[in-house]
Amino acid sequence: MLDVRISDLTQHDGAEVRLRGWLYNSRGKGKLLFLLLRDGSGICQCVVLRNEVGDEIFEEAKALTQESSVEVVGSVKLDERAPGGAEVKVSSMRVHQVAEAYPITKKEHGPGFLMDHRHLWLRSKRQMAILRIRHRVIQSFRNYLDQEGFFCVDSPVFTPNACEGTSTLFETNYFDTTAYLTQSGQLYAEASAMALGKVYCFGPTFRAEKSKTRRHLTEFWMLEPEFVYAGLTEVCDLAEGMIRYTLDNVLKHNQQDLIDLERDSAVLEGWNREFPRLRYDDAAKMLMEWKAEGKYESEFEPGDDLGAPDETMLGEHYGCPVMVTHWPAEVKAFYMKRAEDDPTKALGVDIIAPTAGEIVGGAVREDDHDVLKQRVLDHGLPLEAFQWYLDLRKFGSVPHGGFGIGLERTVSWITGVEHVRECIPFPRTLQRIYP
Ligand code: 4AD
Ligand code: MG
Repeated sequence: MLDVRISDLTQHDGAEVRLRGWLYNSRGKGKLLFLLLRDGSGICQCVVLRNEVGDEIFEEAKALTQESSVEVVGSVKLDERAPGGAEVKVSSMRVHQVAEAYPITKKEHGPGFLMDHRHLWLRSKRQMAILRIRHRVIQSFRNYLDQEGFFCVDSPVFTPNACEGTSTLFETNYFDTTAYLTQSGQLYAEASAMALGKVYCFGPTFRAEKSKTRRHLTEFWMLEPEFVYAGLTEVCDLAEGMIRYTLDNVLKHNQQDLIDLERDSAVLEGWNREFPRLRYDDAAKMLMEWKAEGKYESEFEPGDDLGAPDETMLGEHYGCPVMVTHWPAEVKAFYMKRAEDDPTKALGVDIIAPTAGEIVGGAVREDDHDVLKQRVLDHGLPLEAFQWYLDLRKFGSVPHGGFGIGLERTVSWITGVEHVRECIPFPRTLQRIYP
C-alpha cells in the first residue's frame, strides 16, 4: 500500500493510497459523507459513499468524533475546488481510537482556555500553519548561513555570568554554586569565532523579563551569527541577506500556510527590498518631529532606548524592516565597540520590523583588552567571571561582530500573528509555565 502524506497527494492522481491522520471535521447528507482528515502536512477531503464502502464502514465513519485517529485507503482525484487540490474517494478505513469529546471546538474560546489546552490547541489549522512556518524560518536561517560558510557551534545554557544586563537573569542552583540560564550565546560564540572564523549558535535563551507585552517570552529561541573581520556594514549585510532569503523561502514553500493564516503574500513581497539604514540620531529627530506634529504619543526623548510606540512609528513609516545604527552607548550592552567619529555612540544595530518591532540586535564587539576590562568594571560585572572573555582580546584579537535574531519575533512578524506566545510550541511567560 502506498502511504502518502497529504501535502504530496497532488503528485498521485488516480493512485490508490493510504492516509493516516486525525479527523479534523466532517459533514454529510444521506448516503454521502465528507471526512476532513489532517496528517500534519495538510488537510484532505475524503469522500465516503454508502454504496461503495458498505453499511458497516459508513456507519463507523459517520460516528467518528473530532480528532479520532484513523487510516483511510482510497483513490486520489485532483480537484481544484478541494482544499489542497485533491480529494480521496474512500474504499476502506481503519479506526485507531475514537476520540472523547474534544475540548477545542469551532466556537470561540478565550486565550486563557486555549493556552491551558496548548497541547491540543497545536492541532488547530492556524497553529499548525504557524509551526510549519516556524520550521521554514529555522531551515532558512541555517541554509543561508551554511551557504555563507558559517559553522554551527552551540553555546552553553548554564553560565557563570550575565551577557545582556543583570536585571533579567534566571538564577539556579548548580551543585554548591550559582549558575545563570543564558540570556544570549554571544560571548561563547565570540570564542568559537576566534577558532572557526564564521560561526553561529542557535538555542533557547532565557530572560526573567517582568514585561507582560505581546513581544516578550521568558524562554525564546535565538540564532546568533558571529564572524571575524566584520564591521557594522558586514553585520548589517549579513542580517539583511538572511532575512530576505527567509522571506523568499516562506513565499516559495508556505503558500497554503499563509492562506490558512489569512496572510496576504503581497505584504511579504513588499518587505523584500533593500532595508533602509539610518543612524539613531536621525531616527530620534524624526520621532521628535512626529511627536510635535501630534502624529503619535510617546515619552521618547533623544538619548532614550526606543519603546514599542516608537518602533511601531518607524516600522510604519518605512513599510519594511529598518536598521537603526550608532546608538547612545548608555542604552546598549557593555561589549559594544564605540564609533570612531563619536565615542558616545555604540556600533550597534537594531532591526525594527513593521508591527513586530525589534527582531534583531547586533553589534561590532570591543576588541581592545584594556577598554573592555574597564567596561566590565564600569558595568559592575564580576571580573573573575569574564576572565576567559577578556582572554580573547589577549590572544590574536581581531575586529569582529554579529547579531542575534529572535525566532518567535521573526515568526510573529512574517505570519502577522500578534502575540509571540503563539509562535513557540509551549510558551513560557511571566504568568505561564503550564502545560
Ligand atoms: O537585542 P538582544 O538582547 O541582543 C542580544 O542578546 C545579543 N547578545 C545578540 C547578539 O549580538 N549575538 O536580543 C536579540 C533579539 C531581539 O532583537 C529579539 O528579537 C529577541 O532577541 N528577544 C526576545 N524575544 C522574545 N522574548 C524576549 N523576552 C526577547 N528578548 C530579546
Ligand atoms: Mg535588543
